[in-house]
Amino acid sequence: MNKNKFYTLGVLTSGGDAPGMNACVRAVARTAFQEGANVVGIMNGYEGLINGEFKRWRNARAVGGILRLGGTWLQAQRSKDFREKHGQREAIRNMNEEGIDGLIVIGGDGTLRGAHALAEQGIKVIGIPASIDNDIWGTDMAIGVDTALNTIMESVDKLRDTASSHNRAFLVETMGRNSGYLAVQAGISCGAEIVLCPEFPTTVENVAEVIENAYERGKNHAIIIVAEGATLRTTDLARELDKMDVGFKTRVTILGHVQRGGSPTAFDRHLAARLGIRAAQALLNSETDMMVGLRGRDITLAPLTDVTTKTRPVNMEFYNMVRMLAQ
Ligand code: F6P
Repeated sequence: MNKNKFYTLGVLTSGGDAPGMNACVRAVARTAFQEGANVVGIMNGYEGLINGEFKRWRNARAVGGILRLGGTWLQAQRSKDFREKHGQREAIRNMNEEGIDGLIVIGGDGTLRGAHALAEQGIKVIGIPASIDNDIWGTDMAIGVDTALNTIMESVDKLRDTASSHNRAFLVETMGRNSGYLAVQAGISCGAEIVLCPEFPTTVENVAEVIENAYERGKNHAIIIVAEGATLRTTDLARELDKMDVGFKTRVTILGHVQRGGSPTAFDRHLAARLGIRAAQALLNSETDMMVGLRGRDITLAPLTDVTTKTRPVNMEFYNMVRMLAQ
């Protein structure tokens, strides 16, 4: 008899969506079915857990056709109620009633904090990192980051066409509330003059000098990447630069939620598959309160206590590379 025949695994996505979440849900579900377990898809993240929005999937076909889809097919929310003890208690009560033995949660830092809170109350749970911000400790890459970076790169390449046609400097704002990861990586991939990010604050005068310097060296455009969470706000910076004579006229583009959409890249689909398989296997082997992650070439497990208390620093060497290459 299959040892997992009476095991029911629940899976949800939570927080901001990230391309590759669907590929990951598919990998989790198919691994569980392969191992003989039952699978329940939970709609709307933790909110769905509180409201009992469960879908019992009959077999692996239930997750067919979602691999290449962007967004999250299971839908996601940032649940206020789940941050409170009463919400968590309600979620646990529903899980028990539905006969869910273990939970896989796919999402960013808030989602993983929620997973840890459940584990502390005795729920078996494994987290999978998915957030375009790539600010999660315990993994080199989260699901969705590569797709977002490619979207940024395509957008900035287009902006460069128009910037050089009109001798302009473009301030391009990327997502990343508390992290400059996307901005720094985009700065390298897109040949920016300078990157502004929360981790390495700079002044308006320094940015002005960098732009003026590019103008004087005969460049016909300048690209400045600004992380959403940078100490200087993008529109304020543009206003200040307009008052100074930096050579180029400036324009602002805020990329916004376009960065979260789109079909996942090959890298994200591959990462989602590996993390999903490992997470389901870990849960079925009675591991709990852990997050799967990519470290080097390996898929590893890290305790959620570490994941939720440590921060993932932005690489200073990469930050400096942007300035060095902007010659
Ligand atoms: O955490 C992912 C992220 O896209 C951040 O980069 C951004 O600050 C935030 O989510 C936006 O959240 P919302 O979709 O709720 O506006």
